[in-house]
Amino acid sequence: MHLISAEKFFLWKKKQLSKGGDKKSFSLLIDALGGLSKEKLNLFKIKNQGQLKLKLDLDILEYFWNLHLTTSKPIQHLSGISYWRDLTLEVSSKVLIPRSETELIIEIISGIFKNKEEKKTFVDLGTGSGAISIALALAYPSWNGFATDIDKNAIDIASRNFAKNSYQSNLKFYEGNWWEPLRNIKGEIDIAVANPPYIPQDTYNLLPVEVKNFEPKNALLGGEDGLDHIKQIVQNAPTYLKDKGWLLIENHFDQGERVKQLFLENRFTAVKVLKDFSGIGRFTIGRYK
Ligand SMILES: C[S@@+](CC[C@H](N)C(=O)[O-])C[C@H]1O[C@@H](n2cnc3c(N)ncnc32)[C@H](O)[C@@H]1O
Repeated sequence: MHLISAEKFFLWKKKQLSKGGDKKSFSLLIDALGGLSKEKLNLFKIKNQGQLKLKLDLDILEYFWNLHLTTSKPIQHLSGISYWRDLTLEVSSKVLIPRSETELIIEIISGIFKNKEEKKTFVDLGTGSGAISIALALAYPSWNGFATDIDKNAIDIASRNFAKNSYQSNLKFYEGNWWEPLRNIKGEIDIAVANPPYIPQDTYNLLPVEVKNFEPKNALLGGEDGLDHIKQIVQNAPTYLKDKGWLLIENHFDQGERVKQLFLENRFTAVKVLKDFSGIGRFTIGRYK
């Protein structure tokens, strides 16, 4: 542990932020690498006195901050961790850093399934770091969950994340193409969730360096119009969902109406496009028949 006076720390912080970067990334650096949460730091800021305890000394934290500024490497990759809801998840360049807008998926599902005792089967297609599936398994201990991903590295990371965040055993991980690893539970799924790659090719080409150079292409790119994977998921859903089973898909900001149409073409009912915190039609949801 390194003890640093609050006064010295805040002078040092001002110097670091004057070099560039954003406050959110800086807070994450201090939290994930320095071991001091934003809340604790705010308390020191109000008093501007006392001694802060940091896991790394200021020179080393400065080294990582400079590295972030010069290479655009996300702090999550420098620290190897990402905070998502109340989870601390291992991440690397092999998985998408889970985004804050995706957190709403858990809220949407909680709004539908209020009785936590009732046993249900859920799946998370393209689980990446495991964020969605782990949050659901923890929120619904009586549910049985299955998570798939085409990338073996993602499956390994998600499995470790589940083991680190829980002692539960109600979630299993399978490597494979979307629904394919779930062939033994055809027609048994109550709720399927997916945040698939949905970025159209021309948008992908213009993504900021911190995303394009560091996050996996197969987690982002959804083909020419962004809908390649969403189509596969929706078209195959009727084979795997129960009658009246739910499908919830995260989509790109302008895809809501097209995804809704796909749901309707595949015999889904009660189809809705739900907005995220920015008012964007980010999630499409419906029931099979
Ligand atoms: C946008 S990321 C979402 C990751 C995670 N669910 C989240 O919300 O942070 C999409 C994920 O889909 C996976 N994926 C891509 N193609 C796939 C396929 N054909 N079958 C299964 N998973 C796939 C990627 O490896 C990636 O982990």
